Amino acid sequence: MFKVTIIGAGNVGTTAGQYLHMRGIADLVFIDINEEMAKGKALDLSQTASISSGSAGLLGTSSYGESADSDIVVITAGIARKPNMSRDDLLSINAGIVSQAAKEAIKYSPNAIFIVVTNPLDIMTDLVQKTTQLDSKRVLGMAGVLDSARLEAFIAAHLQISPADVRAMVLGGHGDLMVPLKRHSSVKGIPVTELIEAEALHKIMERTRNGGAEIVSLLKSGSAYYAPGASVAQMVEAILLDEQRLLPCCVKASGQYGLQDIYIGLPAIVGRNGVEKIVELALNEEESRALAASAQSIADNIALLESLRQPKPQAPSETDNKEETAAEADSQKSS
Ligand code: NAI
Ligand code: 2OP
Repeated sequence: MFKVTIIGAGNVGTTAGQYLHMRGIADLVFIDINEEMAKGKALDLSQTASISSGSAGLLGTSSYGESADSDIVVITAGIARKPNMSRDDLLSINAGIVSQAAKEAIKYSPNAIFIVVTNPLDIMTDLVQKTTQLDSKRVLGMAGVLDSARLEAFIAAHLQISPADVRAMVLGGHGDLMVPLKRHSSVKGIPVTELIEAEALHKIMERTRNGGAEIVSLLKSGSAYYAPGASVAQMVEAILLDEQRLLPCCVKASGQYGLQDIYIGLPAIVGRNGVEKIVELALNEEESRALAASAQSIADNIALLESLRQPKPQAPSETDNKEETAAEADSQKSS
């Protein structure tokens, strides 16, 4: 039996766990800072076994020791942005949580493949690779599967056809600058550009870019988790079962698409070694420009995170101030 550890037993983590449990392909360990909650969710899910035929083992804990020898570690731990919190605050808080989780998990599972989910996704994936020092093929982020599934759902709904016949591809970072590819979206091989008129297709692409925000505004608190959880499970399964699937994932480019050493959403073959290969499509000028802009935004945010994580110069303490003022007064007296 394979072993999968999911760090963060929140909405996305446990939804992914639910899909995997129903498939019965791996023992699951949920790790959360809130141990009781992780235990409760694992127990609840284990009680579906006789109904859904899930056969895998389940454990909820806050102890990383329990994750030892995992084949895959999924990181969903983090916090959502609160009203009084800046984007920079969120970036540094989630970076602290994610790097700590990665540091602990790699100690016990040095041979695991890491799938990162916590936002901001591309930056956190880069951080996990830097923290674990794993080969970049073994650290990938989940976003492209979700963004592409959203695009597929919108195309299917517009055409009133089964989503099973729709295939679409979204590249780039998981944010406003993601790059939904019209030319590479099709219905059973028929390009969507032949089936949907330009203005409607443009609206579908825009809706995809705002797919996460649309759900946040409806939920009022928290963000999407059914489709994200299903997307994580698809990636986990592709790796464990060595499916060699072509999935858009956040992977580290090393020259592909003219991008060097940057984690960003690209089409990749996913199998037992993690990222088996990054697939290069011939993008047109507009697509290439959009991908480059998305990569630049990721690079800027990585630089921002690095600057936020630099130790700040110590502010002089009150005692120092008093001493300085006294010293200044003395020196003025003596001059
Ligand atoms: P959630 O709030 O339901 O779950 C997060 C969990 O992390 C909570 O249970 C919390 O207790 C736990 N946690 C916090 N600090 C921890 C620590 N130090 N160690 C262990 N656990 C800790 O949030 P949800 O909805 O599950 O989302 C999780 C993350 O995934 C968020 O950052 C969200 O923005 C992101 N996300 C990313 C998507 C993507 O496409 N990449 C899609 C959907 C969500
Ligand atoms: C989403 O796209 C919030 O990243 C999350 O739903």
